[in-house]
Amino acid sequence: MQSFSDSNRTLQPSRATMDKVKFGAEVMHIKDLSGGQLTQDTVKKLILQSQEAKKQAYCPYSKFRVGAALLTLDHRVFTGCNVENACYNLGLCAERNAISKAVSEGYRAFKAIAITSDLSDHFISPCGGCRQFMREFGPNWDVYLSKPDGSYLKMTVDELLPVSFGPEDLSMSKVFNIPNEF
Ligand code: THU
Repeated sequence: MQSFSDSNRTLQPSRATMDKVKFGAEVMHIKDLSGGQLTQDTVKKLILQSQEAKKQAYCPYSKFRVGAALLTLDHRVFTGCNVENACYNLGLCAERNAISKAVSEGYRAFKAIAITSDLSDHFISPCGGCRQFMREFGPNWDVYLSKPDGSYLKMTVDELLPVSFGPEDLSMSKVFNIPNEF
């Protein structure tokens, strides 16, 4: 197992802690010291945070609550819920909300996202738009699709959106280059 370097000290594997850093802004720390894969304890905490985020869901139209908790590479957690609108098509998904919060605070490297809903018998599955939104930040990170009882299914972004289109595709060689003034 590998150890992570956190600012100026090296953290050893097999101890996991969570400390709330900024409660109001819902920015927290989950320090997972296990190396590449998240420990069961960290997954549980991330899912619990997605369940907390779900409580803020604003979904008067669908009445379908969704919560997400996004873990950055440097152990920060950004949460999000769905936010609907009377102009239906402006509604925002929980995953995109959490990702946008992280990106707008300067975090673009993600380790995992946990998603939860009120569906008792199904693992909540991210919509296609959210899969593409996740993929923007790389294909190789984990998505925990969970149920309210805390059980989950782990998939990578790449598994959820295979043969995807991403930022790299924009700079691949083309048969025709449209001039700037076009
Ligand atoms: N929703 C999410 O927040 N995430 C998903 O991945 C699936 C759908 C929201 C959008 C809308 O507010 C409600 O669930 C019903 O579609």
